[in-house]
Amino acid sequence: MKSDVFCSQDQLLERIKSIYPARSVYLLAALEDAQSGLGYVPEDVIEPMGAYFDIPGEMVCSLIEDCEALQMSPPAKHALHVCQGPICAASGGSDLIGKAREAIGTCEGVQLIAGHCLGLCHDAPVARLDGSTMCRAKPDDVIRQLRLLNPDYS
Ligand code: FES
Repeated sequence: MKSDVFCSQDQLLERIKSIYPARSVYLLAALEDAQSGLGYVPEDVIEPMGAYFDIPGEMVCSLIEDCEALQMSPPAKHALHVCQGPICAASGGSDLIGKAREAIGTCEGVQLIAGHCLGLCHDAPVARLDGSTMCRAKPDDVIRQLRLLNPDYS
């Protein structure tokens, strides 16, 4: 069952407890619920959630790390998806992600995703910044778009 937006971590735990029986088989659904409500699974709720489902916190962390749809840190304001599918990787996608990583550097606010095929292989390499797609993208194209978000990206 997907949830509405939660307001706090305490409310999240209360909601999880009200929806899911305290059985380990419900852990993944509860984590997905947390992800859906907050955009991530806060570290603060991992131990109490693990205790509720009788699963050690380390195992909950491992599950989150292994599941691509879950994350433990708040989502960045912007997401840059650089396709690393086979066609894009062979058409400059590897260079593209390297240059994007350099440009973003230590600046916060952009999550760089070495992503899966976006279904636009005929326009490889492909990158997508906040839903805006760049086809036959070159590093300068990506950097130009990043600079529109923040002039510090070089
Ligand atoms: S491999 Fe990049 S869009 Fe398909």
